[in-house]
Amino acid sequence: MKPSRLLVYCRAGFERECAQELTSIAGAIGVEGFVKARPDSAFAVFQPHQDDMGVELAKHLEFARLVFPRQLVRVGDPLTLQEADRVAPIVAAARDLGRSFNGLAIEMPDTNDGKALSTLTRPLTPHIEKGLRKAGIDFEDASAAERLHVFFVGSLACYVGVSDLANSSRWPMGIARLRMPRDAPSRSTLKLAEAIDEFLDEKERAKRLAPGMTGIDLGASPGGWTWQLVKHGLMVIAVDNGAIDAKLLESGQVKHRRDDGFHFKPEEPVDWMVCDMVESPSRIARLAAGWIAQGWCRESIFNLKLPMKKRWEEVERCRAIIDEALGGGGYFLRMKQLYHDREEITCHLARQRKAALR
Ligand SMILES: C[S@@+](CC[C@H](N)C(=O)[O-])C[C@H]1O[C@@H](n2cnc3c(N)ncnc32)[C@H](O)[C@@H]1O
Repeated sequence: MKPSRLLVYCRAGFERECAQELTSIAGAIGVEGFVKARPDSAFAVFQPHQDDMGVELAKHLEFARLVFPRQLVRVGDPLTLQEADRVAPIVAAARDLGRSFNGLAIEMPDTNDGKALSTLTRPLTPHIEKGLRKAGIDFEDASAAERLHVFFVGSLACYVGVSDLANSSRWPMGIARLRMPRDAPSRSTLKLAEAIDEFLDEKERAKRLAPGMTGIDLGASPGGWTWQLVKHGLMVIAVDNGAIDAKLLESGQVKHRRDDGFHFKPEEPVDWMVCDMVESPSRIARLAAGWIAQGWCRESIFNLKLPMKKRWEEVERCRAIIDEALGGGGYFLRMKQLYHDREEITCHLARQRKAALR
């Protein structure tokens, strides 16, 4: 049996946005279905009207292009478990999915209720592993393309499914666990750290975010994002009327300009412009697209704050603003609600340089 439903994990409170996003992508390729997304549950499930259409949709979904989902898993029907033997139905469902997997992820929603489930899943894990082995299922096959997921949504309810290693988050529960650097001036630094990890792989980082390059940080105070650029060896102009961390200024890599980020113009083009100003998303989207359009920077990472009700619509609006400002093509844009983002998303925008980048 092919798993025909799509399970996505997200930040609690953003289930509706996941539902809108999945429905819009499904609609665009003619797949009909509906999304089950209980408010604040931290997950959503797309259920196609026809099973084979769900399989079709899964083929079209590119995890990296999804804005709100943190993880993407293809699952079958939800399982109702008995207290006496939770393991047998999970093993049976896994056997339906295959015989070898590249990892086993036993997970739950990122909510307080979900966290409470770990008191159940922790002692259950060795039993599930034993059951899988006994059924001839290898879940440690490094050559397999899929990972096996058991996603508990209650003590007696779970989904069993698979994710493609090449089309999903590599982080457990889709949560990037990053350590707060001791000398960074603000916790916001983790947002840019996660964005760099998410948007650039190691090779790209070495080429495109490397020592000797230049950057501008709009809305920099107290300096968490500037700190990240400095750590990567960039020379940075930090633009903000607020103060910049004294130690960061002592690094010799940072110049502070007390200026308005919407009026600041670089004397010469820079490699990177990053922006974490708290402003309306459409204004920030226009600003970032303008920097790229005018060639003031090569690439940009910026944050769009979404405190409004119609967040999905706002994201679509910003996408349209960027597209228009850049003449309808020749750029790549990724938008993602990162784990360290709250009511906001982070975007990566650049001129298209090679076919593999969009
Ligand atoms: C969320 S904080 C930035 C935190 C920073 N990214 C960090 O990691 O420490 C937003 C900053 O944007 C600045 N800001 C807001 N509007 C601005 C504008 N028009 N020009 C320059 N800075 C602005 C504020 O002064 C504030 O320091």
